[in-house]
Amino acid sequence: MHAAILLYFDDEQAAAERLAHAAGLDAAPVTRHRFPDGEIRLQLPDALPGRVVLLRTLDRPNEKLIELLLAARTARALGARHLTLVAPYLAYMRQDIAFHPGEAVSQRIVGHFLAELFDAVITVDPHLHRVATLQEAVPAAQAIVLSGAPLLADLIAAQRPGALLVGPDSESAQWVAQAAARHGFTHAVCTKQRHGDHAVDIDLPGLPVAGRAVVLMDDVASTGHTVAQAARQLLAAGATTVDVAVTHALFAGDAVRRLSDAGVGEIWSTDCIAHPSNAVAMAPALAQALATLPR
Ligand code: R5P
Repeated sequence: MHAAILLYFDDEQAAAERLAHAAGLDAAPVTRHRFPDGEIRLQLPDALPGRVVLLRTLDRPNEKLIELLLAARTARALGARHLTLVAPYLAYMRQDIAFHPGEAVSQRIVGHFLAELFDAVITVDPHLHRVATLQEAVPAAQAIVLSGAPLLADLIAAQRPGALLVGPDSESAQWVAQAAARHGFTHAVCTKQRHGDHAVDIDLPGLPVAGRAVVLMDDVASTGHTVAQAARQLLAAGATTVDVAVTHALFAGDAVRRLSDAGVGEIWSTDCIAHPSNAVAMAPALAQALATLPR
């Protein structure tokens, strides 16, 4: 029996193969049957080693959270002693306080749910705004955060040397500053006011953008309204080009068309969520993080 195994779901087979290769792990699928009424039945390999790594990126998370519950509890029943979740995208991190009375604080609830199932959680650029560490949101024994920002920065340096890096809102400052420091890019962040899922106001930073190649950088693009609105205003202010680099390519609905309608040139993302814009591979960094866990 091997010391550890990587389990994956069939829709993430390609990502699992990349991670298994980088980490030197054997990989096996969790098979899934969907009953006509929508319930699911999962089946794991019946001889599990003591260490089990489960890969599940948590875009479109609602059903996946049930899968994690079933898979993690079954892995324990089959003998897993140390269970790691590799969730390159960690959902429900943005709702970190009750913005209105009675609202569920999803970050805390989902974070505790995952911490009860897994000994270790590894993720990339979780949206931590009002909490300082992943451990506060996901109190697992090991809660490891990686960043796509340095790798996106390397790509930007190769594609747009001398770019002006702009974050579309204050939360993006952490990733923009990290990327800028790596290659000495000039950088700044906008001010954003969100009025609803599909309505944002952006105020550009007070530095000149005329004649500059701008790269907008954020952890996540969902509807795309945030980066589209920022791009439109940057181009109106004289930026020569506006490209977009995000860690998490959620791109819900017609987000990509919204970006191109706004004048965005290239869209680059990490492969935390599979998307045609993927330009940066996270498997080597995820494998390194796995290597730091107890054996
Ligand atoms: C929020 O602060 C995030 O960093 C993103 O800016 C936001 O989630 C993007 O959402 P959308 O693409 O729907 O505007």
